[in-house]
Amino acid sequence: MHRRQPKLGLIPETLLLTLYARALDAKLPSPILGDTLSAELADTIDYDFRRLKLKPNLVVTTALRAKKLDDVVRAYIAAHPECVVLDLGCGLDTRMVRCAPSPDVDWYDIDFPEVVDLRSECLPGRSHVIAADLTEPGWLDTIPGDRPAVIIAEGLLPFMPGDSFQHMTRELTAHFPSGELAINGYTRFAAWAMKYHPTIKALGIKAAQGFDDPHEPENWGAGLELVEEEMLTRAPEVARFPQPLRALTRLTARSTALSRQGARILRYQF
Ligand SMILES: C[S@@+](CC[C@H](N)C(=O)[O-])C[C@H]1O[C@@H](n2cnc3c(N)ncnc32)[C@H](O)[C@@H]1O
Repeated sequence: MHRRQPKLGLIPETLLLTLYARALDAKLPSPILGDTLSAELADTIDYDFRRLKLKPNLVVTTALRAKKLDDVVRAYIAAHPECVVLDLGCGLDTRMVRCAPSPDVDWYDIDFPEVVDLRSECLPGRSHVIAADLTEPGWLDTIPGDRPAVIIAEGLLPFMPGDSFQHMTRELTAHFPSGELAINGYTRFAAWAMKYHPTIKALGIKAAQGFDDPHEPENWGAGLELVEEEMLTRAPEVARFPQPLRALTRLTARSTALSRQGARILRYQF
């Protein structure tokens, strides 16, 4: 088998972490996401994934947050069959394959040019792929702005510098008549602590950002309104977490403050 050697910068390299987490989940006896395509894809990449030092916690939470964000997309598409889907900082995510939208849906995958090149090589599909730095203006111009949109940003927020995520959000909500934005949230502490996480440390990433109050984005001037904050510690899928992680997660679930420090899905409408 021809294995590709990815040439990725520091931030884009994080896509290998989420890809590998989904791949490892798919190989578990009782997977949470069960994304076998991600497992196949990881096998085609010539990279020492062991250097990412992925722990079971990161594998199951990454799989679970992907599953919950897929659910957001599926529900939105069911309610808006001719919508637009945007996956911001898509990496090598196979979300479109997992969600299998009808041809009436227009799907846009957006990431840095080097990622888009790799993606087009090893994950061809029917999505529109946009090569862009999301902190720069102009990339939205090619996306039709007359249809409702569901916008996913998974694993992106901590890597956008300064207030660029907020700025991008204002541009997005001004572009579409209505829609939903769904992200996996990071508290300020979780974002700060990320640099001590063995995986992020292994990649050498220093800065990350987050916010505590799920209502904070309502003050970004983007017309966002919080629809739901879903704590993943309380998801039924926790029953499939390996022990002792399952017991620890169930304990954490009793406290909202502690649950917030872990994975959560934030959903906003505009
Ligand atoms: C942790 S990875 C997540 C990838 C994918 N969403 C997933 O869940 O597998 C973060 C992704 O965000 C992308 N990214 C970060 N900052 C970006 C920016 N300013 N413009 C475009 N993409 C960006 C990276 O290249 C990377 O693919």
